Amino acid sequence: MSWSNWIRQFHRWVSMAFTVGVIVNVVAVSTAGGKEPAFWVYLLALVPLALLLLTGLYLFVLPYAIRWRGRRRAVGEV
Ligand code: HEM
Repeated sequence: MSWSNWIRQFHRWVSMAFTVGVIVNVVAVSTAGGKEPAFWVYLLALVPLALLLLTGLYLFVLPYAIRWRGRRRAVGEV
């Protein structure tokens, strides 16, 4: 599997971990009876979100990077 495909699959599966993390957060906050839930509960959503941000930015740039590399090759710079 190519590197960009691997990142896409990673983004896809981490998005499900993030979804579960958000659900756990909603349940934790709504059943805490006004108290703050433990800090690690927030991390269940924040860590996957940080990974999604990094891999998502990579996926966003990918098509432009491919075009840019293709143009350089066509002009004969590489
Ligand atoms: C945090 C910032 C995020 C950024 C910058 C981002 C960016 C992207 C980009 C650029 C793509 C590729 C679109 C394409 O060219 O087809 C993508 C795909 C996707 N994103 Fe995100 N994303 C983010 C967060 C999320 C979140 C929060 C979820 C869901 C909980 C999510 C779920 C997905 C899924 C399921 C795909 C399709 C993956 C595939 O092609 O198999 N992303 N995202």
